[in-house]
Amino acid sequence: MARLWNRFWNHLSLRARLLLPMAAMVVGALLLGGLALQIVSPEQFENENAQAARSAERVANALNAALAVAGNPPQTLDAFADKLGRSETIAFVPPGTRPQRSAADRHHGNIPAWFTALLKVPELGSTHPIRIGVTHVGDIVFSPDLSPDIEEKWAGFVAIVSSSSALMLLAALSAYFTTGAALRPLAQLGAGLTRMRNGDYDAAIPLAGPPEIRKSCAEANQLAVTLRRLSQDNRNLLRKIVAVQDEERRELARELHDEMGPLLFAIRANATALSDPEAEGPPEPGSPAHGILSAAEALQQANRRVLEGLSPLSVADLGLAASVQTLLRNARSQAPGLRVTSRLDDRLDELDALLSQTAYRVIQEGVTNALRHAHATTMGVAATVNGDQIQLEISDDGTGLPPDLTFGRGLIGMHERVRALDGTLQLVREQGQTIVRCRIPLQNHVAR
Ligand SMILES: Nc1ncnc2c1ncn2[C@@H]1O[C@H](COP(=O)(O)OP(=O)(O)OP(=O)(O)O)[C@@H](O)[C@H]1O
Ligand SMILES: [Mg+2]
Repeated sequence: MARLWNRFWNHLSLRARLLLPMAAMVVGALLLGGLALQIVSPEQFENENAQAARSAERVANALNAALAVAGNPPQTLDAFADKLGRSETIAFVPPGTRPQRSAADRHHGNIPAWFTALLKVPELGSTHPIRIGVTHVGDIVFSPDLSPDIEEKWAGFVAIVSSSSALMLLAALSAYFTTGAALRPLAQLGAGLTRMRNGDYDAAIPLAGPPEIRKSCAEANQLAVTLRRLSQDNRNLLRKIVAVQDEERRELARELHDEMGPLLFAIRANATALSDPEAEGPPEPGSPAHGILSAAEALQQANRRVLEGLSPLSVADLGLAASVQTLLRNARSQAPGLRVTSRLDDRLDELDALLSQTAYRVIQEGVTNALRHAHATTMGVAATVNGDQIQLEISDDGTGLPPDLTFGRGLIGMHERVRALDGTLQLVREQGQTIVRCRIPLQNHVAR
């Protein structure tokens, strides 16, 4: 029961939560009022008519006494009856004439029957027999008219009901508009928090509504300021990490190049010299010197590939567009069956070093992933500059991303680089194509 009530209550709006108890209070007050009327009214009716009831008894006693000593009792009785008249309250009724109607049975003007029933009007009438000698010649009948009392109570009841209804209406209107005025700023606060969750910290939440809500809005705005600063710090940090990472890779590439290059050259030269100092040309195939030479060449090629991966000289030297073309040429040679298409914007070479490097790394990882994981027949690379952002798309018609995709170093690195430049990265499957879509704002990155 309590759970059912909780579920019902939890679904009620704030307005309903205010109005429902108010309506319940008014209905409760009316029910209590009705109950009080029912308890108190019968006694009130009796008290108000007690005097008249006693008078009726006294009249009957006086008439019986007068008839007992009268010379001509019937004449005395007639004269008395005439004098008394046929008033509604105390009357002389000869035997066999109209039956008494109870006060509750009477019709009381426009008062609804349920109200009369609610009052529990008591039977206050009384009958006092009149005798001449031992003969019953009629009755003094007391039948009070309770209509004025009932009407008075009805008027009071109507006044209470209408004033409490009017009060309830006023309270309801006031609650309705007050909650409306409080809910509007709350809705704005909610919208502001949603904007913050989406990373928009610039639009301030208007300070409106009652002081408590205004304070919450002001605190949410403060939170936005703090989050904006933290987000900026975070981006700066990411930028630094990316820059340090690239610097480290360049350093590593330089070391590898400078250390390995001369050594490999020495190995090759010595292997050639070892074979046969007299002979011209390369050593005999199958000879140990030929083996050393082949291994040295393979090592040299592997070294070149590692160097290219670590620090693509081409981006700095050739520019982004030409570097991507080189990358795609290598991809074609690695996967001869793959159809590779590209759409590269002319303005790619106007981007500064950081953005060029980032864009290159994103394309490089996207292409490597397509070659390694997709088993595709076509692959497309597009890099376009649209208005104030660069958009990169690497698509393939391969197997698609696994349902339980977990980011490896490649996608994590790609994501970090893009985030460092305020960009967004999406991995989607659209019309049979796996697409890595990345957008990076140009901001201050158009250098040349
Ligand atoms: N084009 C694609 N088609 C299908 N699956 C893909 C594609 N690109 C990425 N994936 C999936 O996403 C996973 C994560 O890629 P990610 O580049 O992060 O790691 P990785 O390529 O496995 O290893 P590495 O860290 O060397 O890049 C991959 O293992 C692969 O399952
Ligand atoms: Mg990868």
